[in-house]
Amino acid sequence: MKTPIPILLLLFSVLSAQHKVQHKMMTEEERSVHHRFDDAEKWADVFEDSTRDEWQLPDEVIKSLAIGKEDVIADIGSATGYFPVRFARTASSGRVYGIDIEPNQVDYLNARAKRDKLPNLESVLGEANDPKIPEKVDLVFICNTYHHILNRGDYFENLKQYLKRNGRLVIVDFRKGELPVGPPEEMKLSKETVIGELTAAGYRQLSNSAKLPYQYVLVFQAGHK
Ligand SMILES: C[S@@+](CC[C@H](N)C(=O)[O-])C[C@H]1O[C@@H](n2cnc3c(N)ncnc32)[C@H](O)[C@@H]1O
Repeated sequence: MKTPIPILLLLFSVLSAQHKVQHKMMTEEERSVHHRFDDAEKWADVFEDSTRDEWQLPDEVIKSLAIGKEDVIADIGSATGYFPVRFARTASSGRVYGIDIEPNQVDYLNARAKRDKLPNLESVLGEANDPKIPEKVDLVFICNTYHHILNRGDYFENLKQYLKRNGRLVIVDFRKGELPVGPPEEMKLSKETVIGELTAAGYRQLSNSAKLPYQYVLVFQAGHK
């Protein structure tokens, strides 16, 4: 049976009004998280820029984490896969999950994994308040994304369920102050803020040897000493 046109118009205007109300209800911060990174091809130019290795020092970061060949790793905010593809080569008999809330980034990374012949790398759509990692992991890695996560107290309490016993949480993010790369100053969080928030959420800090020119590398384990 065909739906009469006036009913279709009414339905459309109700849905459109609902969308506007939902958008209005989001704070400025939430709007910047939702859909800021939806154009994966465009962001690939930034995240995969050939000069990034000079300051991101991915090999040094990975070496400092002593990743095992069979480790299971989740990269939250995986985007185009800068670290996940490297993790998949290192944990070649393990599994790497790239978690992102943008469907286009997830599709982009899955296509990249196929192209690069990395069957142990899979990108999975997470939710803003729950990464939905498919299994417990040895390592959760979050690079340049911590400051995008909202309601971090609840988020990191919830994250513990995805960590294996002695599993580690690694945060890499930009230092405060003027830097030639990274987000605007007002979006950045100091290392002390991250340590304070994660300590309050029930994590304890471990040592790490990686020294990066513009970022801190912080390693944690769930549970107090
Ligand atoms: C600045 S990019 C970082 C990309 C990547 N980690 C890198 O270092 O190249 C932030 C990414 O995190 C994603 N993101 C933001 N909030 C998220 C959340 N709560 N859970 C998972 N991904 C999130 C965005 O969609 C975006 O792809």
